Amino acid sequence: MEFPFDINQIFTERVSFLDQNLAADRWTARRPDLQANLATVIDELGRASAKAQQLTAAVTSASKLQSQRHQLYLLKDGESSGGRGAVVGFLKVGHKKLFLLDRHGVHVEAEPLCVLDFYIAENLQRHGYGLELFDFMLQHKNVEPGRMAYDRPSPKLLSFLEKHYSLTQNVPQVNNFVVFEDFFFNRAAAV
Ligand code: ACO
Repeated sequence: MEFPFDINQIFTERVSFLDQNLAADRWTARRPDLQANLATVIDELGRASAKAQQLTAAVTSASKLQSQRHQLYLLKDGESSGGRGAVVGFLKVGHKKLFLLDRHGVHVEAEPLCVLDFYIAENLQRHGYGLELFDFMLQHKNVEPGRMAYDRPSPKLLSFLEKHYSLTQNVPQVNNFVVFEDFFFNRAAAV
């Protein structure tokens, strides 16, 4: 995904971590022009992700990121666009309080880390970038994919989780979240 400004100036690392402060680093935080470009990138990514999932509204935008205490990992390709860099995709995660059912139908209250939005640019999908980004997040958060919850996962995400992390056995829920059997291992049930 290309932009009419220097991506490498806003995102210095291959994977950038963004939170409600909306700054890739202290340098960006002090530059309103870079902050504005960063917001443009996030808004554009959010729109592209919504379109790819056929959602009527974007679940990710710069203003939502500032207000919702979620966290976003952004992957760039620093070499492309004549050295200005291009954005490859993003992964948004955050904790949510959920009421879940285990495989016996027992209610479990938990506040797991959830995958809330995940998008790799159309022409770059199925090249391993999603895995690179997801693995980065797992290490950064020190979490296992089976311990996470997934908000309305698309068929592509379900296939991705099965292929890379052997997550196949999801436990039916009454909300839009998907969790797998691993989620309930060694977790106390709420009574
Ligand atoms: N059809 C089916 N499975 C797919 C597709 C596709 N078009 N694209 C990726 N996958 C799955 C497959 O398991 C694939 O393995 P395969 O090629 O051997 O079949 C595997 O992902 C490839 O792994 P990566 O290359 O690491 O994944 P990628 O870089 O494509 O990123 C992602 C995966 C983020 C799901 C990407 O395909 C994408 O952006 N899709 C469109 C948006 C989307 O559906 N996002 C998830 C929304 S749900 C949520 O965020 C909670």
